Amino acid sequence: MTTGIDRISFYTSRYCLDLKDLAAARGVDWNKYSIGIGQEIMGIPPPDEDIVTMAASAAKPIIDEVGVEGIDLVLFATESSIDQSKSAGLFVHGLLGLPSRCRVVELKQACYSGTIALRMAAMMVAASPTSKALVLCSDIARYDLGSPGEPTQGCGAVAMLVTAKPSLLTLDPEYGAHTEDVMDFWRPNYSEEAFVDGKYSTRIYLNSAAESWRQYAELTGRSLSDFARCCYHIPFTNMAAKAHDRLLKESGIREDRKEITAAQVGESLGYNRMTGNSYSASLYEGLACLLDTATESLDNKRIGFFSYGSGSVGEFFSGVVTPGYRDHLYTDRHQTLLESRTAVTVQQYEDIFNLSVPSDGWDYSFTEYQTGDFRLAGMQAHKRMYEAVS
Ligand code: CAA
Repeated sequence: MTTGIDRISFYTSRYCLDLKDLAAARGVDWNKYSIGIGQEIMGIPPPDEDIVTMAASAAKPIIDEVGVEGIDLVLFATESSIDQSKSAGLFVHGLLGLPSRCRVVELKQACYSGTIALRMAAMMVAASPTSKALVLCSDIARYDLGSPGEPTQGCGAVAMLVTAKPSLLTLDPEYGAHTEDVMDFWRPNYSEEAFVDGKYSTRIYLNSAAESWRQYAELTGRSLSDFARCCYHIPFTNMAAKAHDRLLKESGIREDRKEITAAQVGESLGYNRMTGNSYSASLYEGLACLLDTATESLDNKRIGFFSYGSGSVGEFFSGVVTPGYRDHLYTDRHQTLLESRTAVTVQQYEDIFNLSVPSDGWDYSFTEYQTGDFRLAGMQAHKRMYEAVS
């Protein structure tokens, strides 16, 4: 039974901050952000945008195109959860008018949860091939103002439709996984910002990639040259490049690693450079970018994936691109979205950063900013009130 990704749609906020402005405000050499970290712009979610509105806006083009029929599972992956009890996916279920015969849950393991959501969805569709599953990955990356993590913030959501006859990518069954109980990055329930041991987190990420790859390679007998392209979890684009370099080194490749990395990974990084980290969505934002922008056709080509979630769980897996995939992409929509954002100043970014959703139980209507198809309209008696944007 083949199962995999039938549609992939990406959404990010309508506001952004040019990291040149942040570098100037923080007294940092711009080259550190653009060359050292590999980021140019970060997505800024306005006060009436959250993980629900971003995920619903990501999924809307898929629903508009294929309809809701047969979708009987929604898996919502996030580490920016808005409720300890109710799944964010239920709000999306309501906003999109999904069928009542539909199971909805939220999954968490840092940035890895989107991958287990995708693989669980594929297994459930394999067991019931007429079913379709909607996987939603949506996150807002937040670190303290002025911290080393600040230029790697961002936001975004990816929606993927998983079916038994996928138009984009068939998942291979094999995987390599590496799990380790570590404190490289975490966010206690009382904190709106993540805590991170930055340098340590990059070492753990690389080690997790190497261990997962070693296991996958042993199981499958494949080598890195069997992949036309590789996509990585992208906390910042140079992390993905470093990870591929590490796998090449582990595979005994001594020469031209920089060029090989540019060829195998480069085309997946463009969107992330313009949005920043979207945690659970970032690997799949990379896949959307690759499918949208690869200059040569990837028909029948195998793609390698490394998913990493701090704390930590890593998984290396793969899939084969469906011939004709280019007819089923939302490339124009993605590119228009990225090109038409409104730039904010550093002061506006800090003002937005310092706002939080009121928690006193009073009724509030939120000012309307530019959003996607849905917005967080306000709060009533501790309930988030969402609405479609006309
Ligand atoms: N010109 C060019 N390059 C420069 C430069 C300049 N003027 N100044 C510095 N650089 C280079 C440095 O040499 C360095 O390159 P290398 O990594 O190749 O050595 C790079 O820019 C970064 O510089 P620093 O190491 O000094 O940067 P930092 O310590 O201030 O911050 C960071 C880097 C620790 C990654 C920080 O951004 C951070 O904490 N980020 C959040 C955590 C994170 O993203 N971790 C990734 C793994 S965990 C994960 O993946 C899960 C997740 O989503 C969070």
